[in-house]
Amino acid sequence: MMEINRFIKLLSVLMFVLSLCMKLNSVSAAEARCIERERQAFLKFKHDLVDANGLLSSWGSEEDKRECCKWKGILCSNGTGHVISLDLDAFPWSGHLLLKGKLSPSLLDLQHLNYLGLSGNDFGGSEIPRFIGSSKNLRHLKLNYSNFSGEVPCELGNLTNLNTLDLGYNNLRIKNFDCLSHLSSLSYLNLSRNDFGGSEIPRFIGSFRNLRHLMLTDSNFSGEVPCELGNLTNLNTLDLGYNNLRIKNFDCLSHLSSLSYLDLSRNDFGGSEIPRVIGSFRNLRHLMLRGSNFGGEVPCELGNLTNLNTLDLGYNNLRIKNFDCLSHLSSLSHRDLSSVNLINQTSWLHHITRFPFLKKLSLIGCQLPNPVLSFDIFTNSSLSKLSILELNSNYLTPYPHCVGCLTLVQVLQALTSPLIN
Ligand SMILES: *[C@@H]1O[C@H](CO)[C@@H](O)[C@H](O)[C@H]1NC(C)=O
Ligand SMILES: *[C@@H]1O[C@H](CO)[C@@H](O)[C@H](O)[C@H]1NC(C)=O
Ligand SMILES: *[C@@H]1O[C@H](CO)[C@@H](O)[C@H](O)[C@H]1NC(C)=O
Ligand SMILES: *[C@@H]1O[C@H](CO)[C@@H](O)[C@H](O)[C@H]1NC(C)=O
Ligand SMILES: *[C@@H]1O[C@H](CO)[C@@H](O)[C@H](O)[C@H]1NC(C)=O
Ligand SMILES: *[C@@H]1O[C@H](CO)[C@@H](O)[C@H](O)[C@H]1NC(C)=O
Ligand SMILES: *[C@@H]1O[C@H](CO)[C@@H](O)[C@H](O)[C@H]1NC(C)=O
Ligand SMILES: *[C@@H]1O[C@H](CO)[C@@H](O)[C@H](O)[C@H]1NC(C)=O
Ligand SMILES: *[C@@H]1O[C@H](CO)[C@@H](O)[C@H](O)[C@H]1NC(C)=O
Ligand SMILES: *[C@@H]1O[C@H](CO)[C@@H](O)[C@H](O)[C@H]1NC(C)=O
Repeated sequence: MMEINRFIKLLSVLMFVLSLCMKLNSVSAAEARCIERERQAFLKFKHDLVDANGLLSSWGSEEDKRECCKWKGILCSNGTGHVISLDLDAFPWSGHLLLKGKLSPSLLDLQHLNYLGLSGNDFGGSEIPRFIGSSKNLRHLKLNYSNFSGEVPCELGNLTNLNTLDLGYNNLRIKNFDCLSHLSSLSYLNLSRNDFGGSEIPRFIGSFRNLRHLMLTDSNFSGEVPCELGNLTNLNTLDLGYNNLRIKNFDCLSHLSSLSYLDLSRNDFGGSEIPRVIGSFRNLRHLMLRGSNFGGEVPCELGNLTNLNTLDLGYNNLRIKNFDCLSHLSSLSHRDLSSVNLINQTSWLHHITRFPFLKKLSLIGCQLPNPVLSFDIFTNSSLSKLSILELNSNYLTPYPHCVGCLTLVQVLQALTSPLIN
């Protein structure tokens, strides 16, 4: 009896273990959640691409590759099993991971796709296919640096859920900007490094209230920066550098107080002064106003920007009379004042010791006089992080015996370079 009892107990334990195993088994079967229609869509998608580096080797029709949710670059929803993200963003400068070929419309079978990232691949100068505009659940579309050219299809304007749109670094045009005017959910828009043929920045961008990052660098925009951009009070990054833009009335941008990155370099501000209101953008960490034909005195208000990390005022037509009002910029790590007129600032060397985090300081062509302090200040000073000090083309006497300068990478060459005049 005892034996039988024991046997039954053992048996029930065994059954329990077995049923556990079966449960586990059925769980892993449920994990194989790739939806066949989507798998077929990916196989067609791969078929139209040239994958010389075997980036997509995990994608295949073989039995052991059934689980497309495990294929490289693909992410499925845990709940529904639908593919929600296709991330084939590549880094071309590494020399690998470069897909060529064309985009298959089979992408439209991925009806739940919310992220499509194809940046850094090579679509051979073709146009962005119109059908992408029908992928209506897309929230993130990254086609930067992908060798697309020609007209941006109006159909992209149908993607009203888009949060991220990155078309940077291609060879794109937009004839009719208005067809993008409904992309009002955007929080990141990067159109940098294309050629928009001298057109104005479209005013409707000012109605994209969620916009946090707006990058229109080096894209052949011209004319007046629209006042409407001043409505973008959540804006964190505004990069308008390397265009042909003007700002007549900077006051209408005075509410951009969330900005942490502002680049207006290489435009033409017609010799006007740096707007004082920039000094009220308390979150600014990077301010680049290089080579934009600003003139006059650098406003003391910039000294209120105590979080500033990078300040580039180089190659304008500026003067600094009162260094003291800039002395609170103690977080600065990169500072370029090249060509700012500092002719009467014999204590300039003393002033820069107030910026303990400086890594790079450029004072090229500033008409700098010989400093009252000795360059030996570098031996003792708090400027322990400074590694690049550019002083070419000033009124400095060559200073060969500067001991502390030895810790600076580029200063010696600068100090011994020919004087101007
Ligand atoms: C799915 O679940 C796994 C494990 O819990 C988790 O790491 C992953 O982030 C989830 N994926 C999504 C898209 O929610
Ligand atoms: C594309 O843009 C993203 C930012 O949206 C960036 O992180 C990435 O490096 C860019 N890729 C290429 C290839 O430029
Ligand atoms: C873009 O594609 C064209 C046509 O295939 C090719 O000639 C060109 O080199 C490509 N550009 C880049 C930057 O890869
Ligand atoms: C998408 O946009 C195009 C051009 O702007 C338009 O002709 C078409 O009707 C739109 N399609 C949908 C589904 O809204
Ligand atoms: C915007 O795009 C350009 C060109 O691809 C890139 O160099 C830049 O880093 C991007 N800016 C941001 C803030 O992502
Ligand atoms: C900007 O676009 C205009 C008009 O198409 C063209 O004439 C000019 O060469 C372009 N400028 C640059 C820098 O590409
Ligand atoms: C946006 O800015 C413009 C010009 O500054 C202004 O006329 C307009 O009323 C603003 N729009 C909203 C919705 O605040
Ligand atoms: C900003 O700086 C100016 C000039 O240095 C000063 O008069 C002004 O009070 C400062 N503003 C604030 C809000 O601190
Ligand atoms: C430098 O000082 C001289 C003499 O005080 C003055 O005439 C000149 O305007 C000053 N230059 C600058 C750029 O401040
Ligand atoms: C460096 O510091 C030492 C000791 O504090 C001092 O004697 C010397 O004069 C200082 N040298 C310079 C160039 O400031």
